[in-house]
Amino acid sequence: MRVISLSSLVALAAPLASAFTLSAPTNPTSGEITEIHWGFTATDPATFTLFLVNSTQAFDLKATIGQNLQTSLGEITTLWPVLPSGAGYQLRAVDVTNVDRVLAFSPAFAVSA
Ligand SMILES: *[C@@H]1O[C@H](CO)[C@@H](O)[C@H](O)[C@H]1NC(C)=O
Repeated sequence: MRVISLSSLVALAAPLASAFTLSAPTNPTSGEITEIHWGFTATDPATFTLFLVNSTQAFDLKATIGQNLQTSLGEITTLWPVLPSGAGYQLRAVDVTNVDRVLAFSPAFAVSA
């Protein structure tokens, strides 16, 4: 039992083997237009959901940036949510049908006010 719960924890914390990569946005500012870029290969899912989370708290969801985003776009330009400024934000790309299936994390980054 212990082994099973440990391995499911690992599965939650670590992205599955995937070619998907997520860049930190450049100078994201609360309430401003922001570009988000990602990299992918043909083996990645065709669509994904993009969450903004706390980089130190896996379940501290800050915002949903996009749902059913088309992977092949490689980038979106979006209105950044209104959020407190500070460091420790992170983007997380997940499977549209299973949010526990993490495709990629971005590096942690700061948001400006
Ligand atoms: C993330 O969580 C930590 C611990 O609760 C908190 O101190 C920090 O302010 C949070 N950061 C963001 C960006 O929400």
